[in-house]
Amino acid sequence: MVIFGGTGDLAHRKLYPAVYNLFLSGELPENFAVVAVGRRNKTIEEFRNDVEQAIHRFSRPNNGSPAQLDKALSMFYYYRLDIYNADGYSRLGRYLSEVDKVHGTNGNRIFYLAVAPEHFQPIVENLKAAGMVLNDGASWQRLVIEKPFGSDLNSAIMLNEAINRVFGEQHIYRIDHYLGKEMLQNIMAIRFANALFEPLWNNKYIDHVQIISSETVGVENRGAYYEKAGALRDMLQNHMLQLLMLTAMEPPAILDNNSIRDEKVKVLKSLSEMTSEKVLRQVVRGQYGRGQIDGKMVPGYREEKGISPSSDTETFIAMKVEVENFRWGGVPFYLLTGKRLPVKFTEIVIQFVSLPEVLYFKELRGLKPNTLHIRIQPTEGVELYFNTKKPGIRNEIIQVGMDFCQNCDVDAVSPDAYERLLLDVMKGDSTLFTRWDEVEYAWRFVDRIARAWKEEKPIFPNYPASTWGPYEARKLIERDGRRWHVV
Ligand SMILES: NC(=O)c1ccc[n+]([C@@H]2O[C@H](COP(=O)([O-])OP(=O)(O)OC[C@H]3O[C@@H](n4cnc5c(N)ncnc54)[C@H](OP(=O)(O)O)[C@@H]3O)[C@@H](O)[C@H]2O)c1
Repeated sequence: MVIFGGTGDLAHRKLYPAVYNLFLSGELPENFAVVAVGRRNKTIEEFRNDVEQAIHRFSRPNNGSPAQLDKALSMFYYYRLDIYNADGYSRLGRYLSEVDKVHGTNGNRIFYLAVAPEHFQPIVENLKAAGMVLNDGASWQRLVIEKPFGSDLNSAIMLNEAINRVFGEQHIYRIDHYLGKEMLQNIMAIRFANALFEPLWNNKYIDHVQIISSETVGVENRGAYYEKAGALRDMLQNHMLQLLMLTAMEPPAILDNNSIRDEKVKVLKSLSEMTSEKVLRQVVRGQYGRGQIDGKMVPGYREEKGISPSSDTETFIAMKVEVENFRWGGVPFYLLTGKRLPVKFTEIVIQFVSLPEVLYFKELRGLKPNTLHIRIQPTEGVELYFNTKKPGIRNEIIQVGMDFCQNCDVDAVSPDAYERLLLDVMKGDSTLFTRWDEVEYAWRFVDRIARAWKEEKPIFPNYPASTWGPYEARKLIERDGRRWHVV
């Protein structure tokens, strides 16, 4: 695995610990090595020391023995190369052939682009020019590409065409790390493996769906990137739409990568068109101002490092989306995501319809509807709320919850998303990666919102840090007679 950006944050925080955990669990192939590429001057020993530190800092518990760590570190190499030095790639190619000889990797390569998006195209073109992408049957070369994949539909098409000139679609693995999360993979199992849910998963029995992904942090040190992305491109275009697709998709005919992704894309194609009027009515954008967290004042978005004091970048979105097909017609999906909200979590809430107002309903107004909560992070699990009689001589009904918590046990640490994703790239399974048409339809949807927003200047900031976003976000759902489960 050749990691461009091998000296960067993503590689240290996620990729090296993931490789190490795969090694410890015995999942890593025998013939495997990592060659990190960066500009910094480092000896292999210095680099292996960096990797060791990263493992200590960021790996999940169960760090293995010193002998295991030494063995794992012996698979890590460093090669210094400027991405734009086209001549240097042939030298890199020769270096990789040397590593092949030591580790028996036979010319098979995973090129992992853990660099800023503007570097994607030059790297791919230089790899091709140096004859490093063959896919000739004797060996394979795969490309792993981090998000964001373009900044709108046009830039995504251009990037896709450029990489398609070098790698066929079947060799491209576009990462949306949410798809590697344990509970995301569980959504399909919960839906399609339970007679309790599958027959009810439609507009006859579901009143509405909420998809919420909130962060407590602000923009941190990612100002330059976030200014151009905002919540729309950073969260909605990828993670939020992935959650929507998995919740709303039809069961695939077979469990292979293309059948699953075909069904996901159909959901995007069924989204009701976001006209300017609809954006105005159904999409709320926000930007956080100053606010108090744990008794301390935190700066507003416009006061953060690297952010323009007059920035119109949104840090919050709440919206109502309609999936216009026979299963979902009439069932609104409410999406909410933002930075500097009071709690960090990602959850899908399915609210079932209320029963006719007879029997208990007649006497006891305000019975709560059944809800199913699929918790993605930080806790992973499923919670089902239903009504039952309160013990006692009175006829009182209370809501109770059945809670399955996947990672509440101290020992039950789920693998990090990157472990699963890296393993799948090694195996050549692209199910949990974003196919081009998913990217394309997601941008089509998001671009319309971006265009409508351009027509009007927002009044920002419009929510204090550590609150649940602007008042309009509450109004959005409350005017439909519903409420956010978190607010
Ligand atoms: N960090 C995360 O948690 C995270 C999460 C999701 C997605 N991502 C995505 O992952 C990508 C990388 O993010 P990051 O946070 O790891 O960035 P980063 O810490 O800034 O690292 C950037 C890397 O790019 C290398 N680089 C830059 N210009 C180069 C050049 N001309 N030649 C060779 N190497 C060059 C740097 O090498 P030198 O420093 O040696 O020059 C460094 O290794 C981005 O696309 C980001 O959006 C990151």
